[in-house]
Amino acid sequence: MIIALNNKSNLTKNEFIKYLEDLNNIETKHKIVLCPSSINIPLFNIDNVLLGAQNVSNNLAGAHTGEINSKQLKSYNVKYCLVGHSERREEQNITSEDTNKKINLLLDDNIIPILCVGETKEQRIHKNYKAVIKEEILTALKDLTEEEIKKLIIAYEPIYSIGTGVLPKNSEIQEVLNIIKKILPDNKILYGGSVDDDNVDTLKEIEDIDGFLLGGLSLKVENLKRLLEKI
Ligand code: PGA
Repeated sequence: MIIALNNKSNLTKNEFIKYLEDLNNIETKHKIVLCPSSINIPLFNIDNVLLGAQNVSNNLAGAHTGEINSKQLKSYNVKYCLVGHSERREEQNITSEDTNKKINLLLDDNIIPILCVGETKEQRIHKNYKAVIKEEILTALKDLTEEEIKKLIIAYEPIYSIGTGVLPKNSEIQEVLNIIKKILPDNKILYGGSVDDDNVDTLKEIEDIDGFLLGGLSLKVENLKRLLEKI
């Protein structure tokens, strides 16, 4: 399985150094991808974990204050990058067109995009979640070749589940995985949203899940170890 760790905007320099020491003790057959806060990327120095980023600029190098471009990520050996996380869609007004630009730039630099998709509670209640998820995927894939599309990882994260402790039923998750699989039959799909070392017992029963995207749990190494032992 693929376990992606999204540290979000957490861990100061010294906290991150200690965190890396703790992560370095993990032995697992699973592939772990750590997406630290960007400022911590240059401190990454362990080899049992792969390096990811949480965001990339829509543009190449140039006059884009505060942005980090894909060539810069590549120069720090970043191998994966989250794209379109709901917190960036909400807080930074990232659109599906933006995710398409980011994916194109990342693929040009051989960085694997982890495209995050998912519906709000309202969209689920109003039953337009299927259309929302399809739009997020289809717009993000626009003009990519079949070969490029195969490289993508999709993370299904229902927004109401992120950081809330609220989990959809397995059948609800599987229903969305079916929608994604119809568009992308060969791609790996992760589930994210309040995954922890207890509820993973239930989540791991879902047939089409290839891994998990962990936010809160990424910061708790002992619980992470427990989760890895269970899957
Ligand atoms: P959470 O976050 O595990 O804290 O719910 C997941 C995510 O936002 O990727």
